[in-house]
Amino acid sequence: MQPDSALLARLARHRQDHLLRFWNDLDEPAQAQLLAQVSAMDFERIDNLVAKLVRGSESSVPPIESVGPVEVFGLPQTDAERSARRLVAEIGHDALSRGEVAVVLVAGGSGTRLGFEGPKGTYPIGPVSGASLFQIHAEKIVALGRRFGRPIPLYVMTSPENNDITQQFFDDNNRFGLSHLRLFVQGNMPAVDSETGRVLLATNDGLALSPDGHGGTIAALNAKGPDGGPSCFDEMASLGIKTLFYFQVDNPLVKIADPAFLGLHLQAKAEMSFKVIEKVRPDEKVGVVVTVDGMPQVIEYSDLPAELAERREPDGRLQLWAGSIAIHLFELAFLQRLASGEISLPFHRALKKVPYVNEAGELVQPSAPNAVKFEQFIFDALPLAARYTLVETDRKVEFEPLKNATGPDSPATVRARMSENFAEWLETAGATVARASDGSVPFGLEISPLFALDANELKTKIAPGTHIEKSIYLRP
Ligand code: UTP
Repeated sequence: MQPDSALLARLARHRQDHLLRFWNDLDEPAQAQLLAQVSAMDFERIDNLVAKLVRGSESSVPPIESVGPVEVFGLPQTDAERSARRLVAEIGHDALSRGEVAVVLVAGGSGTRLGFEGPKGTYPIGPVSGASLFQIHAEKIVALGRRFGRPIPLYVMTSPENNDITQQFFDDNNRFGLSHLRLFVQGNMPAVDSETGRVLLATNDGLALSPDGHGGTIAALNAKGPDGGPSCFDEMASLGIKTLFYFQVDNPLVKIADPAFLGLHLQAKAEMSFKVIEKVRPDEKVGVVVTVDGMPQVIEYSDLPAELAERREPDGRLQLWAGSIAIHLFELAFLQRLASGEISLPFHRALKKVPYVNEAGELVQPSAPNAVKFEQFIFDALPLAARYTLVETDRKVEFEPLKNATGPDSPATVRARMSENFAEWLETAGATVARASDGSVPFGLEISPLFALDANELKTKIAPGTHIEKSIYLRP
């Protein structure tokens, strides 16, 4: 087989002809695979990204004087505020009861820091049961569907690398009782040499590809289904879905489709909303929502100049405190508009160590970053939204992500936080929990979402005065 001359000319024009360097050494299936990958590349776009993000010096940091704080619905402090929040939650309840909300869970990342074999969602995180992240998320969705009398559809974004194994995991577990589950695969982007901007070969017959970032969710939801079937967006529209609750796989504490969050978003007729936590230390590794010349946007922690990170209000609190925890609501129509291509999310660069095949056909394992990967971030949709809301949540209650194998944001911290939160539910529900002298919970505690979704529901299920002095897993 020979590649056609138009493709050869295109590769030469874009200085990517090295990609077929080993063509004559490959057998036919390998040639076919390489050809499919190379033909699918949008080299114009790669040229533009290389010019801007590899050769260019365009800064993603806005001028310091243009940056200011953003308005947030704070945590309710008084009884009046708490009852107002309960009222607004009714709007969320109604949307859920009408079946207008779907859940989008993004699980296409590579999970390199965790270093776990297999998709992160299959990690056994339950402090007592060893339930996977996917099980915990799925059971919340099943329980919410029962509570509001309408099953909630779940859409899970995977990557080309982890899609099949993720599908298998859900199938092996009878989809954890979900009535509507659809996996959809995100796109790939090639890694390029950080010196030359040329696409790297991972093998003689394959490009160095990696997922295109969680911003790839929008294009992936808009892509036709397998065998040319309807896209996820089309399917959602036909189901009467109007609002999407978006979250990332690694945080088991997330309050999925939180009715109060939904209520605030719908009441404001927002197109996009964020849950935020209070950032308390300038060096905390969390992106912040700010305004730049009055327009909202997220600045990643790695891009936030120290002068801005450290700026304080007269009361001592950080001025730029609204830390984004990647929990969002989107109006379906807004995302469809973004997917239509009128406006699109920018790409960011990530300098990484990427193994590659050199000119001699040898696999090189670089000891220092050698490649640039291109990723889109979902939070870059914010400046494109006509209206938005930001809602504060308490990090202890709703944010403990699984990122690392040890240290902060690791299995140990996530399990301890889960047990601590479940102890608080039990105490609120009238039970007593034996605690260590420092106040911590010295054993694992876990409550399946199918048993209770919150402390109020738990109250109806356990006898007052119940005493817990050892590890327990409550489930139906
Ligand atoms: P992270 O940025 O923490 O990346 O993703 P990661 O790939 O999971 O882990 P590391 O950085 O390699 O250690 C945050 C969330 O976004 C999803 C991840 O699955 C996770 O839920 N994600 C990230 C995608 O779905 N696709 C991507 O391309 C990147």
